[in-house]
Order: sequence, then structure tokens, then C-alpha cells
Amino acid sequence: MDGNGRWASSRGLPRTAGHTAGEENLADVVRAAVRRDIGWLTVFGFSTENWVRPRAEVRHILGLHERLFGRIAELNENNVRIRWIGRPFDGPDARTPRFVQRAIRKAIVDTAHNTGMVLTVAFDYGSRFEIMEAARRARNSNEPLTVSSMSRYVHDPLLPPVDVMIRTSGEIRVSNFLLWQAVGAAIHFTDTPWPEFSAEELDRAISLVGRQ
Ligand code: IPE
Ligand code: MG
Repeated sequence: MDGNGRWASSRGLPRTAGHTAGEENLADVVRAAVRRDIGWLTVFGFSTENWVRPRAEVRHILGLHERLFGRIAELNENNVRIRWIGRPFDGPDARTPRFVQRAIRKAIVDTAHNTGMVLTVAFDYGSRFEIMEAARRARNSNEPLTVSSMSRYVHDPLLPPVDVMIRTSGEIRVSNFLLWQAVGAAIHFTDTPWPEFSAEELDRAISLVGRQ
């Protein structure tokens, strides 16, 4: 969900205001995705690289994740199940504070009964770490290392292959997001910064599915 900072700066607002607007827009996009019968929506909330940002900005973004994972009533109303991908909380590089850990665990449990869209939030996530960790675990299991054995050791083996990858805010480059799962995905590039990403734009992205 790129472009929060630039969206805010272009309005003379602090970057944190952009992140707040981005979190609010996510709630709108989730509702729009539910209405369109999307089965799986995965969003990049916070990367393994994002910890180096100024402390106040990181703290603000962490608080927004607490808010996002705390939207239980809304998620239940929309029959949305929450999942999370990212570095394990107890891993050697773990930095996720307890209040975020708790919010993530609670959202997963409190929405587990829902049968509609699965909203996966990538938090403290990086594809390179995920792939490296999957390779390490697959090797330790002593099974032959194959694409299908690797696929069982990614953070969430149930996550289906990506149909459409959306890149907001004019970024025309590959990021450290779902590299294992995105083979064959269509890519929707847009100049729209994340806080302005709309349902209409979601429709344009979806229209890429199945097109050669
Ligand atoms: C995305 O917006 C939010 C996070 C990475 C958490 P940015 O903060 O990357 O916004 P820009 O790229 O500076 O505009
Ligand atoms: Mg950015």
C-alpha cells in the first residue's frame, strides 16, 4: 500500500496523516473487494525493511495495525477472515511489539469462523526471508527439495497463487512482496497513491485477470 507519505506531503500534511488515511482507505477497499466476491486479498502493511524509518513514524504505523486488526465487528459484518504473514514473533530478528502481536492473534481467532473473503495482512514481512526460511525448513525436513515441498513451508501454504498484483503510487518496480506466490500474476500499475485507491480502480485491476 505505497504512497501514503507522498500523498500526505503533497497536501502539506505530516507523513503520519498519510498512513492514517491509508488505513482508512484499506477499510473501504476491503468492503469493495467483499462486494466483488474476491476470495483472497493480501496487503503489504509493514515490511522487514520498514523498521529503519523514524521511530515516531514506525510507532504510528504500529498503532494503525492495532487499529486495523481491531476492526473485528466490521470484519465479522463482512464475513472476512483475517490471516497474517510475516517473520515469526519469536524469531531471531523479531521486533514486533506485544500489543501488535496480541492484536494480530485476536483478529485471527475472532474472525476464524467467517467463510467469506480472506484478508491476509503482511506485517514484518519480506519475501526473501520467507523463501529463505521455507528452503531451510524444507531442507531440515529431509524431503527432496522441490517446488511443491517449498510451497508447504512458505508462511501461509494456503495462500493461493496471485492473480493480480497491484502497485500503487507510480512504482514500476518489483518489491519484496509475495515473490514466490506471484509467478504468472498480472500487474496493475497505477500512479494513484494508496489513500486514493478506489473501488473503480480495483475493478480495473480485476479486469486483468485471465487476460493474456
Ligand atoms: C506505504 O507508504 C506505507 C508503508 C510502507 C508502511 P509510504 O510510507 O511508503 O509512502 P511513500 O512511498 O513515502 O509515499
Ligand atoms: Mg513507499
